[in-house]
Amino acid sequence: MLPFHKVVENDFRDVNQLIIEQLHSNVDLVENIGNYLVEAGGKRLRPLLVLLTTNALGYDGRRHLELAAVIEFIHTATLLHDDVVDISALRRGRPTANAKWGNAPSVLVGDFLYSRAFQMMVAIGNMEIMRNLADTTNTISEGEVQQLVNARDPAVSEVAYLTVIHKKTAALFEAACETAAILCQSPAPQRAALRRYGYHLGMAFQLVDDALDYRGDAEALGKNVGDDLAEGKPTLPLIYAMAKSSGEQVELIARAIREGAVDELAAIVEIVKNSGGLRYTEDCAKREAAKAIDELSQLPDTIYSRAMVDLAKFATDRNY
Ligand code: IPE
Ligand code: IPE
Ligand code: MG
Ligand code: MG
Ligand code: MG
Repeated sequence: MLPFHKVVENDFRDVNQLIIEQLHSNVDLVENIGNYLVEAGGKRLRPLLVLLTTNALGYDGRRHLELAAVIEFIHTATLLHDDVVDISALRRGRPTANAKWGNAPSVLVGDFLYSRAFQMMVAIGNMEIMRNLADTTNTISEGEVQQLVNARDPAVSEVAYLTVIHKKTAALFEAACETAAILCQSPAPQRAALRRYGYHLGMAFQLVDDALDYRGDAEALGKNVGDDLAEGKPTLPLIYAMAKSSGEQVELIARAIREGAVDELAAIVEIVKNSGGLRYTEDCAKREAAKAIDELSQLPDTIYSRAMVDLAKFATDRNY
């Protein structure tokens, strides 16, 4: 448990319980795959955002537990699908569901989790929250498809990259904070600030994820490094390295992107490091985290808002 989970420890335990209960299905394979992923843990940052936000706003009820579980189900569904499309072999320190059961069960159980999330959302019964999360899941899918279109294209710009990470990742962080604020009937300016906090935090989070794919450690991360290059993804470390390097090095990176040349990983990592591509990406993440923290001035100063500051710092300092 990370230190900022502590302040909502009881709620967190209840959410984990709810997640296990809601994985129920009469079809064994659904439960087996669902439990396999959920038991492996994960950082649970998105449900944590719901719990911290609702507690920071003094929410007095039980619906926030369901909302937190819904958000984690949506996240877990995207991971099941993401590991299929990224052909990833390791997740949360274990073989991915696609490596263990194959692509078809992973895709279908991902659909089960999405639809279970929507069943739970209906039970919460708040139309504004439903609209927000329907839009968010749509945005995430669009981001993943846009990324697929951008793959193997070395000409993708920094702006195009930022649009993709906003959609595929930051959107769910935004939604976690904003739907929590909606549940608390928070006034519009505060709600907007919380949405922006989620946005900047999510951007910082994915920027660091993309740096860790080059300089991370598989054991600490619980997933393999080099997966982005293997899929020819033009992420920011490479985009920056190409902009700052000279002829031969640019061609090496461009070819690796076009061909998904993971055998060139060591050489590419060297160029990316020497060009400052990793530092640049991490500096962008730090700026996003600082912007996230600025938005918290809209909240009363409590142990919850302070935990949200720590969470933003963790997003940039993490190695997993
Ligand atoms: C992984 O998210 C997907 C990204 C958006 C980078 P997390 O790193 O939060 O995954 P878990 O839930 O902790 O495993
Ligand atoms: C994750 O992006 C985005 C979503 C799951 C929607 P990545 O593909 O970089 O995530 P990891 O690195 O596999 O966790
Ligand atoms: Mg992936
Ligand atoms: Mg992916
Ligand atoms: Mg990644």
